[in-house]
Parts: sequence; C-alpha cells; structure tokens
Amino acid sequence: MRPGDLVARKQAGQPILMLTAWDALSASLVEEAGGDVLLVGDSLAMVVLGHATTLPVTLAEMIGHTQAVARGLRRPLAQQPLLICDLPFLSYQCGSDQAVAAAGRVLKESAAAAVKLEGGEPETVAVVDRLVRSGIPVMGHLGLTPQSVHRLGYRRQARDPISQERLRRQALDLEAAGCCALVLEHVPADLAGSLRRQLAIPVIGIGAGDDCDGQVRVTADLLGLTPSQPPFSPPLLAGRQLCVEALRSWLHSAAPPQEGDPLQADGSPTRPAAPSAPHC
Ligand code: KIV
Repeated sequence: MRPGDLVARKQAGQPILMLTAWDALSASLVEEAGGDVLLVGDSLAMVVLGHATTLPVTLAEMIGHTQAVARGLRRPLAQQPLLICDLPFLSYQCGSDQAVAAAGRVLKESAAAAVKLEGGEPETVAVVDRLVRSGIPVMGHLGLTPQSVHRLGYRRQARDPISQERLRRQALDLEAAGCCALVLEHVPADLAGSLRRQLAIPVIGIGAGDDCDGQVRVTADLLGLTPSQPPFSPPLLAGRQLCVEALRSWLHSAAPPQEGDPLQADGSPTRPAAPSAPHC
C-alpha cells in the first residue's frame, strides 16, 4: 500500500488497520497477521527503550528502529504494509526547514514512505504544508498527543464543546495542508464519527470509538506484553504472563540438579533435562 491509497480505501469503505512495530521481529508478526499499515510509533520510547514518556527518543533512534522494521518484512514490496515513521519530539517543532531535514532523513535512510507528527496548531499546519509540498506524505495525529504530555496529560481530550470545535478546526486545517490520514487518539466517539464523515481523508482511531475509517493499536499493548495497557486498548492475550511462565519453566528445567535434590526411583534427578537448542 502507498500513502495515496489510504483515501481510496476510505472511499471503498474498507477499514484501514494499523499496528505499531519497533524491530524486525515485531514487524514480521504484523506483516504475517495482515496489517495494512506499520507504524514505527514513538511509543517505542516507552515500550522498548524504557523511557517514562515519548519525549527522549531521538531522530537517529527512530530511523534505526524503522530500518530494523523494514528488515523484518518478507513480502514483495508491493504487498508489504505501508511503513510510516513518527517524527520524534523536537524534530519538527522548530520550524519547517528543520522538519523537512528530519522527515527527509527518515525517507532517505529508511524504507518509510510517510511520517506522522502530532498537533494541529497553525505552526504545525505550516510544517505539514511544507513537508507535503516537498514530496513527503504526512499523517496527522490529534487528541491525546503524548509529545504534549506535560501540557495535556494522558487524559481523554476534547471533552467540552469548545475544545471539540478547536479539534475539528485543526483536523480540517491538517486535511487542507495535505495530510494523507489523521489519527485521533482518546477522544469522544461521536466527535470521531462526525469528523470521519466531514473529512475526505481517513480517520484512524485509537480510543475514539468504532465509527472511524480505521483503527490503530500499539502492538505490545494488544499482545499484553506491556506491564499495563491504557483503558482504551485492552490486551487480547496475557502475553507477558505467558512469556514469563514459559521462561520460568525453562529456567527451572535447565538448572543443573543440586546436591540434596530429591532423586527419582531410578536414581535420576527429579528435574527433566533442559531441551537442547535446535542448532546444537
Ligand atoms: O506512537 C504510537 O504508537 C502512536 C500510536 C498510538 C498511534 O502514535
């Protein structure tokens, strides 16, 4: 899929399903599962780099992770999910020149075909306009925008009529500036639904109800791998618990028997031998 295909998908009424990936392994899982869009989201700052917020991740790190994600894709190029990389905090807020340099590096140094950035203030809209006119497809992101955590927190956004109107204006401005799609995070479902009908570009929701043109989730949250998940993204399986139990069971079985361990009737240790690695 190409960025320009997103609008066609909306027009055809086919939902757009987007998942995050952060390395070759997670990318291969999403590709094999059939995701349409692979987002190298800056949530990787928290999910895999262990930061408390998304703010510390650097442009170089985002490019490195996007390169790793691309290495995990196996299908012929035309059948691969659309690869999008988040522009990290402070790689586009200082103006359009800085944004073109950052997004240009993403497209030059990785296989990403588009970038995503957060916000809809006039300065950000001007950046989107400049990026798009430079040939760089842009996905917008409004509502809960984690790069603004110190101003907005992780609360649900656009809860009153005034902030809903502000968000609607920003969405229209981002569309006019040339965004190819818009992520709406943690906003009321009726606002997302009405924007879906008002905008020609797809509205891709997370915590924004079902009345969207598509949905996006942080893959590690869906798999239950993160220590806790946001309320709007419940896990599909207890991945973390399954992994810990499997590892604990291997560690237990692999530990050499200690003096004093009880023996079985035939004199062998009670713990089974560790399974041998397939390449041994
Ligand atoms: O960084 C991210 O994973 C995101 C998604 C939540 C949309 O921006």
